[in-house]
Amino acid sequence: MIDITDRVRNKDLQSKIVTAEEVANWIQPGMTLACSGFTASGYPKAIPIALAERMKKDPFSVNIWTGASTGPELDGVLAEVKGIKQRLPYQTDSNLRPEINDGTVNYLDLHLSESAQLTRKGFLGKIDAAIVEVCAITEEGNLIPTTSVGNAASYVQSADIVIVEVNTTQPLALEGMHDVYVPLDPPNRLPIPIVHADDRIGTTYIPCTPDKIKFIVPCDIKDHTRDLSPIDDNSKHMAKLTLDFINEEIKAGRMPAKLLPLQSGVGNVANAVLAGFVESDMKDLIVYTEVIQDAMLDLIDADKLKFASGTAFSPSPAGMDRFYKNIDKYRQKILLRPEEISNSPEVVNRLGVIAMNTALEVDIYGNINSTHVAGSKMMNGIGGSGDFARNAYLTIFYTPSIAKNGKISSVVPMCSHIDHTEHDVDIIITEQGIADLRGLEPRRRALEIINKCAHPDYRPILLDYYERAVAKTKNANTPHLIDEALSFHSRFLTNGDMHK
Ligand code: COA
Repeated sequence: MIDITDRVRNKDLQSKIVTAEEVANWIQPGMTLACSGFTASGYPKAIPIALAERMKKDPFSVNIWTGASTGPELDGVLAEVKGIKQRLPYQTDSNLRPEINDGTVNYLDLHLSESAQLTRKGFLGKIDAAIVEVCAITEEGNLIPTTSVGNAASYVQSADIVIVEVNTTQPLALEGMHDVYVPLDPPNRLPIPIVHADDRIGTTYIPCTPDKIKFIVPCDIKDHTRDLSPIDDNSKHMAKLTLDFINEEIKAGRMPAKLLPLQSGVGNVANAVLAGFVESDMKDLIVYTEVIQDAMLDLIDADKLKFASGTAFSPSPAGMDRFYKNIDKYRQKILLRPEEISNSPEVVNRLGVIAMNTALEVDIYGNINSTHVAGSKMMNGIGGSGDFARNAYLTIFYTPSIAKNGKISSVVPMCSHIDHTEHDVDIIITEQGIADLRGLEPRRRALEIINKCAHPDYRPILLDYYERAVAKTKNANTPHLIDEALSFHSRFLTNGDMHK
């Protein structure tokens, strides 16, 4: 077994060090295991792998709660053996997605900022064990997180039993990079005292006590972060549109020259936009976001980033190596918090965040579908996009104007599922252009979105729909042809193509 005694600083706790197989054998069918992890960062690995091995011989399932998506050593291996019954609050796993869409897995897609309180207050049932990856356990039994905080602190607080995976691939130099604050629940909640993105309000560890810790397992498996795909031309163009727009906002006096704190979602476009900031002449940028990726390291190296606050550090493998080599430099400018705080509506609103997230589809009135393909099939989940979109100073959504080689228009008459309503959306950007919806009532929004953002192949069909809807409803506030509103989707489901 790997020696972790130097990382288990409380000598008495060293007697609780066991193998992952011993923990896997202790787990019972139907248990709720509340795990650390947010993206492919800071999630337990050895225990789920051992659990999946046991499930291969002795099939059963458990409920898995986490911070968000995780790596293949948790979601992937358990989904492969159909070992997950209930899953929350977010996922991106390609083994798990089909099981969510065929009824094998009960999936609760939650606003990430709300998931900790929902679980703390017992709305979703009781946690049987919290399983948390750490760098080290302190003398007092407190847990030093690794590359994410996510919901781990709330899960530890709520659980009677805590199982700890001590990951020896995570450097001890991570200690001090976390700011753990769990708010009191209503009616005792106090204001969250963050007024600047770099304010520290909590502890550098997850509070825990030795008596709660049942097992400690060594692990030497690295976070399974992914390589970034090269930035495509569409994403580059959307990044340019964003920077041009932001520069105009600065000139118009609606944005300070140093900008407001940036939040950027997952995916190609988000990555391209941040890369665009590296090329720009902006300085002293502040990031208040969920996931800190390679572009933040680029911004630090280019001396453009003042501070980045998030809940997970999830760069590519090359980015991770770069971070570890220069950890003393980067750690001055990066802080990881619980997702309840990184995504807190209160803080996002106070700081005046610029929220930049990606949609699957948008409708002509500005409603956004981030989660469901053709209304029914779950892609990933809402993640933090709702936390930011509703509360940001400026809310931008991106989508390429078409998907699947043009067979899908990402601009549709009516979204087949709505995650973010038109009321929350200020700007929509596709590779075709930018629609500024601020101050526009629905009929002008429709023309702005169709003319600026829709693909030319679909623009005439969308305009035809809109004009007939205006005529039929005699200029109603939000004109729709109810029998036809989802006709793009039904054509796609019938013919595999949204064109007429
Ligand atoms: N209908 C059906 N499929 C669509 C589609 C549409 N309107 N638009 C895109 N797709 C498909 C793409 O073809 C692609 O399929 P593939 O994997 O088979 O190639 C897939 O959806 C992903 O699209 P892609 O263009 O690669 O987007 P992405 O990686 O930027 O992800 C989301 C887009 C919406 C899935 C992703 O941003 C997400 O999960 N968002 C919700 C959570 C979130 O915003 N988190 C951040 C908050 S902090």
